[in-house]
Amino acid sequence: MTILIKGGTVVNATGTVVADVLVDGEKIVALLTPGTEPLGAIAADKVIDATGKYVIPGGIDAHTHMQLPFGGTQASDTFETGTTAAAWGGTTSIIDFAVQKTGERVQDGLAHWHELAAGNCAIDYGFHQIIGGVDDDSLKAMDGLIDEGITSYKLFMAYPGVFYSDDAQILRAMQKARELGLMTMMHAENGPAIDVLAAQLAEAGKTGPYFHGIARAWQMEEEATHRAIMLSDLTGAPLYIVHMSAKQAVEQVAWARDKGKNVFGETCPQYLYLSLEKQLGARSEEWGDFEGAKWVCSTPLRSEEEGHLEAMWQGLRTNDLQMVSTDHCPFCMKDQKELGKDDFRAIPNGIGSIEHRVDLLYQGVVDGRISLSRWVELIATTPARMFGLYGRKGVIQPGADADIVVYDPNGHTSIGLGEGRTHHMNMDHSAWEGFEIDGHVDVTISRGTVLVEDGQFKGTKGHGQFLKRDLTQYLV
Ligand code: URP
Ligand code: ZN
Ligand code: ZN
Repeated sequence: MTILIKGGTVVNATGTVVADVLVDGEKIVALLTPGTEPLGAIAADKVIDATGKYVIPGGIDAHTHMQLPFGGTQASDTFETGTTAAAWGGTTSIIDFAVQKTGERVQDGLAHWHELAAGNCAIDYGFHQIIGGVDDDSLKAMDGLIDEGITSYKLFMAYPGVFYSDDAQILRAMQKARELGLMTMMHAENGPAIDVLAAQLAEAGKTGPYFHGIARAWQMEEEATHRAIMLSDLTGAPLYIVHMSAKQAVEQVAWARDKGKNVFGETCPQYLYLSLEKQLGARSEEWGDFEGAKWVCSTPLRSEEEGHLEAMWQGLRTNDLQMVSTDHCPFCMKDQKELGKDDFRAIPNGIGSIEHRVDLLYQGVVDGRISLSRWVELIATTPARMFGLYGRKGVIQPGADADIVVYDPNGHTSIGLGEGRTHHMNMDHSAWEGFEIDGHVDVTISRGTVLVEDGQFKGTKGHGQFLKRDLTQYLV
Protein backbone atom coordinates (compact mmCIF):
# COMPACT_ATOMS: atom_id res chain seq x y z
CA MET A 1 0.00 0.00 0.00
CA THR A 2 1.38 3.41 -0.97
CA ILE A 3 0.08 6.71 0.37
CA LEU A 4 0.89 10.15 -1.03
CA ILE A 5 0.32 13.05 1.33
CA LYS A 6 0.11 15.99 -1.03
CA GLY A 7 0.61 19.71 -0.74
CA GLY A 8 1.28 20.02 2.99
CA THR A 9 4.00 21.81 4.90
CA VAL A 10 6.29 19.21 6.41
CA VAL A 11 7.40 20.32 9.88
CA ASN A 12 10.40 18.70 11.52
CA ALA A 13 12.35 19.87 14.57
CA THR A 14 14.90 21.28 12.14
CA GLY A 15 12.48 23.40 10.12
CA THR A 16 9.73 23.34 7.52
CA VAL A 17 9.52 22.47 3.85
CA VAL A 18 6.59 22.30 1.44
CA ALA A 19 6.74 18.73 0.18
CA ASP A 20 4.68 15.70 -0.76
CA VAL A 21 5.35 12.71 1.47
CA LEU A 22 5.37 9.25 -0.09
CA VAL A 23 4.71 6.24 2.10
CA ASP A 24 5.30 2.68 0.97
CA GLY A 25 4.16 -0.02 3.36
CA GLU A 26 5.23 0.94 6.87
CA LYS A 27 7.90 3.46 5.87
CA ILE A 28 8.31 6.96 4.54
CA VAL A 29 10.21 6.50 1.28
CA ALA A 30 10.47 10.00 -0.19
CA LEU A 31 9.85 13.70 0.25
CA LEU A 32 8.99 15.07 -3.17
CA THR A 33 8.86 18.52 -4.65
CA PRO A 34 5.13 19.32 -4.82
CA GLY A 35 3.58 18.30 -8.08
CA THR A 36 6.22 15.66 -8.85
CA GLU A 37 4.55 12.43 -9.86
CA PRO A 38 5.80 9.78 -7.50
CA LEU A 39 8.35 7.41 -8.94
CA GLY A 40 7.80 8.38 -12.56
CA ALA A 41 4.02 8.71 -12.65
CA ILE A 42 3.18 5.63 -10.56
CA ALA A 43 -0.03 6.62 -8.81
CA ALA A 44 -0.23 6.04 -5.08
CA ASP A 45 -2.93 3.71 -3.76
CA LYS A 46 -4.24 6.51 -1.58
CA VAL A 47 -3.83 10.27 -1.80
CA ILE A 48 -4.35 12.57 1.18
CA ASP A 49 -4.73 16.25 0.40
CA ALA A 50 -2.79 18.22 3.02
CA THR A 51 -2.97 21.60 1.33
CA GLY A 52 -2.83 24.34 3.95
CA LYS A 53 -2.00 21.80 6.65
CA TYR A 54 1.04 20.66 8.58
CA VAL A 55 2.51 17.21 8.06
CA ILE A 56 4.29 16.27 11.27
CA PRO A 57 5.82 13.18 12.88
CA GLY A 58 3.36 11.30 15.09
CA GLY A 59 3.48 12.32 18.71
CA ILE A 60 5.45 10.27 21.23
CA ASP A 61 4.13 10.39 24.78
CA ALA A 62 6.99 9.11 26.91
CA HIS A 63 5.15 8.98 30.24
CA THR A 64 1.86 7.08 30.52
CA HIS A 65 0.30 4.75 33.08
CA MET A 66 -2.30 2.44 31.59
CA GLN A 67 -3.95 0.30 34.25
CA LEU A 68 -1.53 1.48 36.95
CA PRO A 69 -2.48 0.04 40.34
CA PHE A 70 -2.73 3.02 42.68
CA GLY A 71 -4.52 3.86 45.92
CA GLY A 72 -6.67 0.73 46.03
CA THR A 73 -7.81 1.03 42.42
CA GLN A 74 -6.18 1.18 39.00
CA ALA A 75 -5.88 3.76 36.25
CA SER A 76 -9.08 3.63 34.22
CA ASP A 77 -7.61 3.44 30.72
CA THR A 78 -6.65 0.02 29.42
CA PHE A 79 -3.97 -0.25 26.77
CA GLU A 80 -6.80 -0.42 24.25
CA THR A 81 -8.77 2.64 25.35
CA GLY A 82 -5.70 4.70 26.17
CA THR A 83 -3.87 4.07 22.92
CA THR A 84 -7.05 4.62 20.90
CA ALA A 85 -7.51 7.99 22.59
CA ALA A 86 -3.84 8.73 21.89
CA ALA A 87 -4.37 8.10 18.17
CA TRP A 88 -7.35 10.46 18.12
CA GLY A 89 -5.03 13.12 19.51
CA GLY A 90 -2.15 12.58 17.08
CA THR A 91 0.05 10.40 19.29
CA THR A 92 1.43 7.30 17.58
CA SER A 93 3.78 5.91 20.25
CA ILE A 94 3.70 5.73 24.02
CA ILE A 95 6.23 4.64 26.58
CA ASP A 96 4.34 3.22 29.53
CA PHE A 97 5.72 2.16 32.90
CA ALA A 98 5.96 -1.55 33.68
CA VAL A 99 5.57 -1.93 37.43
CA GLN A 100 7.65 -3.89 39.89
CA LYS A 101 6.14 -3.59 43.36
CA THR A 102 8.09 -4.22 46.56
CA GLY A 103 8.45 -7.95 47.09
CA GLU A 104 7.76 -8.79 43.44
CA ARG A 105 10.36 -9.92 40.90
CA VAL A 106 11.18 -7.32 38.24
CA GLN A 107 10.87 -10.01 35.56
CA ASP A 108 7.36 -10.89 36.75
CA GLY A 109 6.23 -7.27 36.81
CA LEU A 110 7.57 -6.78 33.30
CA ALA A 111 6.00 -10.00 32.00
CA HIS A 112 2.66 -8.89 33.43
CA TRP A 113 2.93 -5.54 31.63
CA HIS A 114 3.64 -7.31 28.35
CA GLU A 115 0.50 -9.42 28.93
CA LEU A 116 -1.60 -6.32 29.52
CA ALA A 117 -0.36 -4.53 26.40
CA ALA A 118 0.26 -7.23 23.79
CA GLY A 119 -2.48 -7.40 21.18
CA ASN A 120 -4.37 -4.53 22.78
CA CYS A 121 -2.61 -1.40 21.55
CA ALA A 122 -3.75 0.75 18.64
CA ILE A 123 -0.32 2.40 18.43
CA ASP A 124 3.25 1.34 19.10
CA TYR A 125 4.35 1.09 22.71
CA GLY A 126 7.51 0.72 24.74
CA PHE A 127 8.16 0.40 28.45
CA HIS A 128 10.23 2.03 31.13
CA GLN A 129 10.66 -0.19 34.19
CA ILE A 130 9.47 1.01 37.59
CA ILE A 131 11.70 -0.41 40.30
CA GLY A 132 9.47 -0.22 43.34
CA GLY A 133 11.75 -2.19 45.61
CA VAL A 134 15.50 -1.78 45.20
CA ASP A 135 17.24 -4.83 46.66
CA ASP A 136 19.83 -7.38 45.56
CA ASP A 137 17.35 -9.22 43.34
CA SER A 138 15.97 -6.18 41.55
CA LEU A 139 19.48 -4.75 41.06
CA LYS A 140 20.50 -8.01 39.44
CA ALA A 141 17.37 -7.99 37.27
CA MET A 142 18.35 -4.56 35.94
CA ASP A 143 21.17 -6.37 34.07
CA GLY A 144 18.60 -7.86 31.69
CA LEU A 145 16.62 -4.73 30.88
CA ILE A 146 18.60 -3.48 27.89
CA ASP A 147 18.26 -6.84 26.13
CA GLU A 148 14.50 -6.50 26.65
CA GLY A 149 14.58 -3.13 24.88
CA ILE A 150 14.05 -1.22 28.12
CA THR A 151 16.73 1.42 28.49
CA SER A 152 15.24 3.55 31.27
CA TYR A 153 13.78 2.88 34.69
CA LYS A 154 11.92 4.93 37.28
CA LEU A 155 12.49 5.41 40.99
CA PHE A 156 10.24 7.24 43.44
CA MET A 157 11.39 9.54 46.22
CA ALA A 158 7.66 9.82 47.04
CA TYR A 159 4.89 7.39 48.07
CA PRO A 160 6.48 5.71 51.15
CA GLY A 161 5.27 2.14 51.55
CA VAL A 162 4.27 1.90 47.89
CA PHE A 163 6.97 2.66 45.33
CA TYR A 164 9.35 4.68 47.56
CA SER A 165 13.14 4.30 47.51
CA ASP A 166 15.34 5.80 50.21
CA ASP A 167 18.66 7.47 49.44
CA ALA A 168 20.66 4.29 50.00
CA GLN A 169 18.47 2.42 47.52
CA ILE A 170 18.67 5.26 45.01
CA LEU A 171 22.45 5.30 45.32
CA ARG A 172 22.69 1.57 44.64
CA ALA A 173 20.29 1.71 41.69
CA MET A 174 22.14 4.65 40.16
CA GLN A 175 25.48 2.87 40.51
CA LYS A 176 23.97 -0.02 38.58
CA ALA A 177 22.39 2.29 36.01
CA ARG A 178 25.71 4.02 35.44
CA GLU A 179 27.37 0.63 34.85
CA LEU A 180 24.69 -0.43 32.35
CA GLY A 181 23.96 2.89 30.62
CA LEU A 182 20.32 3.06 31.73
CA MET A 183 18.55 6.39 32.13
CA THR A 184 17.31 6.96 35.69
CA MET A 185 13.89 8.61 35.74
CA MET A 186 13.06 10.16 39.09
CA HIS A 187 9.82 11.12 40.78
CA ALA A 188 11.45 13.87 42.84
CA GLU A 189 9.37 14.78 45.88
CA ASN A 190 10.33 14.25 49.52
CA GLY A 191 7.69 11.61 50.29
CA PRO A 192 8.31 11.04 54.02
CA ALA A 193 8.17 14.78 54.80
CA ILE A 194 5.06 15.19 52.62
CA ASP A 195 3.33 12.39 54.51
CA VAL A 196 3.94 14.18 57.82
CA LEU A 197 2.54 17.43 56.44
CA ALA A 198 -0.45 15.61 54.95
CA ALA A 199 -1.23 13.88 58.26
CA GLN A 200 -1.01 17.20 60.13
CA LEU A 201 -3.42 18.84 57.68
CA ALA A 202 -5.88 15.94 57.87
CA GLU A 203 -5.76 15.96 61.67
CA ALA A 204 -6.59 19.68 61.59
CA GLY A 205 -9.70 18.85 59.54
CA LYS A 206 -8.23 20.10 56.28
CA THR A 207 -9.27 17.09 54.27
CA GLY A 208 -10.33 18.56 50.89
CA PRO A 209 -8.44 18.03 47.62
CA TYR A 210 -6.85 21.48 47.78
CA PHE A 211 -4.74 20.35 50.73
CA HIS A 212 -3.08 17.66 48.62
CA GLY A 213 -1.32 20.56 46.90
CA ILE A 214 -0.48 22.30 50.17
CA ALA A 215 1.10 19.17 51.63
CA ARG A 216 3.18 18.66 48.50
CA ALA A 217 4.86 22.06 48.85
CA TRP A 218 7.34 23.24 46.20
CA GLN A 219 10.14 22.99 48.77
CA MET A 220 9.55 19.23 48.78
CA GLU A 221 10.07 19.10 45.02
CA GLU A 222 13.06 21.43 44.99
CA GLU A 223 14.79 19.53 47.79
CA ALA A 224 14.26 16.11 46.23
CA THR A 225 15.31 17.36 42.81
CA HIS A 226 18.56 18.69 44.27
CA ARG A 227 19.18 15.46 46.17
CA ALA A 228 18.58 13.38 43.05
CA ILE A 229 20.96 15.60 41.08
CA MET A 230 23.71 15.17 43.67
CA LEU A 231 23.27 11.39 43.79
CA SER A 232 23.39 11.35 40.01
CA ASP A 233 26.52 13.49 40.05
CA LEU A 234 28.18 11.24 42.59
CA THR A 235 27.41 8.05 40.70
CA GLY A 236 27.73 9.43 37.16
CA ALA A 237 24.26 8.12 36.27
CA PRO A 238 22.31 10.32 33.86
CA LEU A 239 19.13 11.64 35.41
CA TYR A 240 15.70 12.54 34.02
CA ILE A 241 13.32 14.26 36.42
CA VAL A 242 9.71 13.47 35.59
CA HIS A 243 6.58 15.62 35.85
CA MET A 244 8.17 18.83 37.13
CA SER A 245 5.89 21.63 38.30
CA ALA A 246 7.86 23.85 40.70
CA LYS A 247 9.90 26.72 39.30
CA GLN A 248 12.52 26.21 42.03
CA ALA A 249 12.97 22.59 40.96
CA VAL A 250 13.45 23.67 37.36
CA GLU A 251 16.10 26.11 38.61
CA GLN A 252 17.89 23.11 40.09
CA VAL A 253 17.85 21.33 36.73
CA ALA A 254 19.07 24.49 34.98
CA TRP A 255 21.85 24.85 37.54
CA ALA A 256 22.92 21.23 37.05
CA ARG A 257 22.89 21.57 33.27
CA ASP A 258 24.91 24.78 33.46
CA LYS A 259 27.49 22.80 35.46
CA GLY A 260 27.61 20.26 32.65
CA LYS A 261 25.74 17.48 34.43
CA ASN A 262 23.65 14.96 32.50
CA VAL A 263 20.33 16.06 33.92
CA PHE A 264 17.09 16.41 31.97
CA GLY A 265 13.66 17.74 32.90
CA GLU A 266 10.12 16.87 31.89
CA THR A 267 6.97 18.85 32.52
CA CYS A 268 3.36 18.06 31.57
CA PRO A 269 0.50 20.01 29.98
CA GLN A 270 -1.27 20.31 33.35
CA TYR A 271 1.67 22.27 34.75
CA LEU A 272 1.58 24.64 31.79
CA TYR A 273 -2.13 25.46 31.87
CA LEU A 274 -3.78 24.44 35.16
CA SER A 275 -3.21 25.97 38.59
CA LEU A 276 -3.77 25.30 42.27
CA GLU A 277 -5.84 28.47 42.60
CA LYS A 278 -8.05 28.02 39.54
CA GLN A 279 -8.64 24.28 39.48
CA LEU A 280 -8.66 23.56 43.22
CA GLY A 281 -8.62 26.73 45.33
CA ALA A 282 -11.42 28.62 43.64
CA ARG A 283 -13.84 25.74 44.03
CA SER A 284 -15.09 26.73 47.47
CA GLU A 285 -14.42 29.20 50.23
CA GLU A 286 -13.35 26.41 52.54
CA TRP A 287 -10.99 25.05 49.88
CA GLY A 288 -12.87 21.85 50.31
CA ASP A 289 -15.14 21.26 47.29
CA PHE A 290 -14.51 17.72 46.11
CA GLU A 291 -14.58 18.64 42.42
CA GLY A 292 -10.94 19.62 42.88
CA ALA A 293 -10.17 15.88 43.07
CA LYS A 294 -10.17 15.87 39.26
CA TRP A 295 -6.86 17.70 39.44
CA VAL A 296 -5.19 15.79 42.26
CA CYS A 297 -1.90 14.57 40.88
CA SER A 298 1.73 14.40 41.97
CA THR A 299 3.64 16.58 41.66
CA PRO A 300 0.63 18.82 42.31
CA LEU A 301 -0.71 21.73 40.31
CA ARG A 302 1.06 24.87 41.52
CA SER A 303 0.23 28.51 42.07
CA GLU A 304 0.03 30.63 38.94
CA GLU A 305 0.42 33.75 41.08
CA GLU A 306 3.78 32.46 42.32
CA GLY A 307 4.95 32.11 38.72
CA HIS A 308 5.25 28.34 38.43
CA LEU A 309 3.27 28.00 35.19
CA GLU A 310 5.18 30.80 33.50
CA ALA A 311 8.44 29.16 34.63
CA MET A 312 7.46 25.91 32.88
CA TRP A 313 6.88 27.74 29.59
CA GLN A 314 10.13 29.59 30.05
CA GLY A 315 11.97 26.34 30.70
CA LEU A 316 10.62 24.95 27.44
CA ARG A 317 11.72 28.05 25.55
CA THR A 318 15.22 28.05 27.00
CA ASN A 319 15.58 24.25 26.91
CA ASP A 320 16.12 24.04 30.67
CA LEU A 321 13.19 21.64 30.26
CA GLN A 322 13.47 19.32 27.29
CA MET A 323 10.34 17.20 27.44
CA VAL A 324 6.56 17.42 27.72
CA SER A 325 4.80 14.13 28.48
CA THR A 326 1.31 13.70 29.86
CA ASP A 327 1.90 11.44 32.88
CA HIS A 328 -1.44 10.09 31.68
CA CYS A 329 -2.92 8.39 34.75
CA PRO A 330 -6.71 8.68 34.54
CA PHE A 331 -9.19 7.91 37.28
CA CYS A 332 -12.95 8.38 37.14
CA MET A 333 -14.61 10.51 39.80
CA LYS A 334 -17.13 7.75 40.45
CA ASP A 335 -15.74 4.91 42.58
CA GLN A 336 -12.16 6.08 42.06
CA LYS A 337 -11.41 9.71 42.96
CA GLU A 338 -14.40 9.37 45.33
CA LEU A 339 -12.32 7.02 47.48
CA GLY A 340 -10.83 10.18 48.95
CA LYS A 341 -14.09 12.01 49.59
CA ASP A 342 -13.34 12.34 53.29
CA ASP A 343 -9.57 12.56 53.11
CA PHE A 344 -7.45 13.87 50.25
CA ARG A 345 -4.77 11.28 51.08
CA ALA A 346 -7.03 8.57 49.66
CA ILE A 347 -7.67 10.29 46.32
CA PRO A 348 -5.86 8.32 43.57
CA ASN A 349 -3.25 10.59 42.04
CA GLY A 350 -3.43 11.34 38.34
CA ILE A 351 -4.87 13.28 35.42
CA GLY A 352 -5.78 11.98 31.96
CA SER A 353 -4.43 13.97 29.01
CA ILE A 354 -3.09 11.50 26.46
CA GLU A 355 -5.58 12.68 23.83
CA HIS A 356 -4.75 16.36 24.21
CA ARG A 357 -0.96 16.77 24.43
CA VAL A 358 -0.37 17.51 20.73
CA ASP A 359 -3.24 20.04 20.68
CA LEU A 360 -2.39 21.69 23.98
CA LEU A 361 1.17 22.26 22.88
CA TYR A 362 0.04 23.52 19.49
CA GLN A 363 -1.93 26.18 21.36
CA GLY A 364 1.48 27.26 22.69
CA VAL A 365 2.47 27.97 19.08
CA VAL A 366 -0.73 29.94 18.46
CA ASP A 367 -0.19 31.91 21.68
CA GLY A 368 3.37 32.78 20.65
CA ARG A 369 5.05 30.78 23.41
CA ILE A 370 6.96 28.26 21.26
CA SER A 371 7.83 28.04 17.58
CA LEU A 372 6.35 25.55 15.14
CA SER A 373 9.57 23.52 15.02
CA ARG A 374 9.90 23.55 18.80
CA TRP A 375 6.36 22.16 18.95
CA VAL A 376 7.40 19.19 16.82
CA GLU A 377 10.62 18.84 18.78
CA LEU A 378 8.63 18.65 22.02
CA ILE A 379 5.83 16.35 20.90
CA ALA A 380 7.93 13.90 18.87
CA THR A 381 11.61 14.48 18.18
CA THR A 382 13.08 14.93 21.65
CA PRO A 383 11.10 12.02 23.13
CA ALA A 384 12.46 9.86 20.31
CA ARG A 385 16.04 11.00 20.95
CA MET A 386 15.74 10.85 24.71
CA PHE A 387 14.43 7.30 24.75
CA GLY A 388 16.19 5.54 21.91
CA LEU A 389 13.63 5.70 19.11
CA TYR A 390 15.01 8.42 16.85
CA GLY A 391 15.31 7.62 13.16
CA ARG A 392 12.49 5.11 13.38
CA LYS A 393 10.24 7.67 15.10
CA GLY A 394 10.16 11.41 15.69
CA VAL A 395 11.01 12.68 12.21
CA ILE A 396 9.55 12.89 8.72
CA GLN A 397 12.36 11.55 6.57
CA PRO A 398 12.93 8.65 4.16
CA GLY A 399 13.53 5.44 6.10
CA ALA A 400 11.52 6.47 9.14
CA ASP A 401 8.36 4.67 10.19
CA ALA A 402 5.35 6.26 8.52
CA ASP A 403 3.97 7.66 11.79
CA ILE A 404 2.46 10.84 10.43
CA VAL A 405 -0.12 13.37 11.53
CA VAL A 406 -1.86 15.82 9.22
CA TYR A 407 -2.58 18.81 11.44
CA ASP A 408 -4.97 21.58 10.39
CA PRO A 409 -3.95 24.98 11.78
CA ASN A 410 -7.30 26.37 10.64
CA GLY A 411 -9.25 23.62 12.36
CA HIS A 412 -10.64 23.78 15.86
CA THR A 413 -10.78 21.36 18.78
CA SER A 414 -13.20 21.75 21.68
CA ILE A 415 -12.00 19.62 24.55
CA GLY A 416 -14.23 17.97 27.09
CA LEU A 417 -17.41 15.99 27.57
CA GLY A 418 -19.93 18.81 27.62
CA GLU A 419 -22.42 19.81 24.90
CA GLY A 420 -20.93 19.12 21.44
CA ARG A 421 -17.73 17.71 22.85
CA THR A 422 -16.36 14.26 23.26
CA HIS A 423 -13.22 12.43 24.26
CA HIS A 424 -12.07 8.86 23.90
CA MET A 425 -10.27 8.31 27.18
CA ASN A 426 -12.04 6.05 29.65
CA MET A 427 -12.92 8.82 32.07
CA ASP A 428 -16.22 10.18 33.34
CA HIS A 429 -14.90 13.74 33.35
CA SER A 430 -12.26 15.84 31.65
CA ALA A 431 -9.56 17.74 33.47
CA TRP A 432 -9.56 19.96 30.36
CA GLU A 433 -13.28 20.69 30.04
CA GLY A 434 -13.88 23.84 28.03
CA PHE A 435 -10.39 24.20 26.58
CA GLU A 436 -10.55 25.48 22.99
CA ILE A 437 -7.67 24.74 20.62
CA ASP A 438 -6.99 26.68 17.43
CA GLY A 439 -5.95 23.58 15.50
CA HIS A 440 -7.07 20.04 14.79
CA VAL A 441 -5.66 16.56 14.24
CA ASP A 442 -7.16 15.62 10.86
CA VAL A 443 -5.35 12.38 10.04
CA THR A 444 -3.25 10.02 12.17
CA ILE A 445 -1.15 7.35 10.46
CA SER A 446 0.86 4.69 12.26
CA ARG A 447 3.43 2.67 10.28
CA GLY A 448 1.51 3.37 7.08
CA THR A 449 -1.90 2.43 8.49
CA VAL A 450 -4.50 5.18 8.72
CA LEU A 451 -5.87 5.20 12.26
CA VAL A 452 -7.93 8.37 12.25
CA GLU A 453 -9.43 10.14 9.24
CA ASP A 454 -12.63 12.07 8.45
CA GLY A 455 -13.55 12.14 12.12
CA GLN A 456 -13.54 8.35 12.32
CA PHE A 457 -11.34 5.83 14.07
CA LYS A 458 -10.17 3.27 11.51
CA GLY A 459 -7.48 1.52 13.55
CA THR A 460 -7.49 -1.81 15.36
CA LYS A 461 -6.41 -2.68 18.83
CA GLY A 462 -3.76 -5.18 17.76
CA HIS A 463 -1.95 -2.86 15.37
CA GLY A 464 0.50 -1.49 17.93
CA GLN A 465 3.84 -3.26 18.27
CA PHE A 466 6.26 -3.38 21.18
CA LEU A 467 9.18 -1.00 20.69
CA LYS A 468 12.55 -2.31 21.75
CA ARG A 469 14.42 0.90 22.43
CA ASP A 470 18.06 1.88 22.05
CA LEU A 471 20.02 3.89 24.61
CA THR A 472 19.36 7.61 24.82
CA GLN A 473 20.97 9.74 22.12
CA TYR A 474 21.83 12.50 24.57
CA LEU A 475 24.88 10.79 26.01
CA VAL A 476 28.16 9.70 24.48
O1 URP B 1 -0.20 11.80 39.95
C1 URP B 1 0.52 11.04 39.31
N1 URP B 1 1.60 11.52 38.77
N2 URP B 1 0.17 9.75 39.15
C2 URP B 1 0.89 8.77 38.46
C3 URP B 1 2.00 8.17 39.23
C4 URP B 1 3.25 8.99 39.12
O2 URP B 1 3.77 9.39 40.15
O3 URP B 1 3.73 9.23 38.03
ZN1 ZN C 1 5.67 10.01 39.46
ZN1 ZN D 1 3.86 9.09 36.15
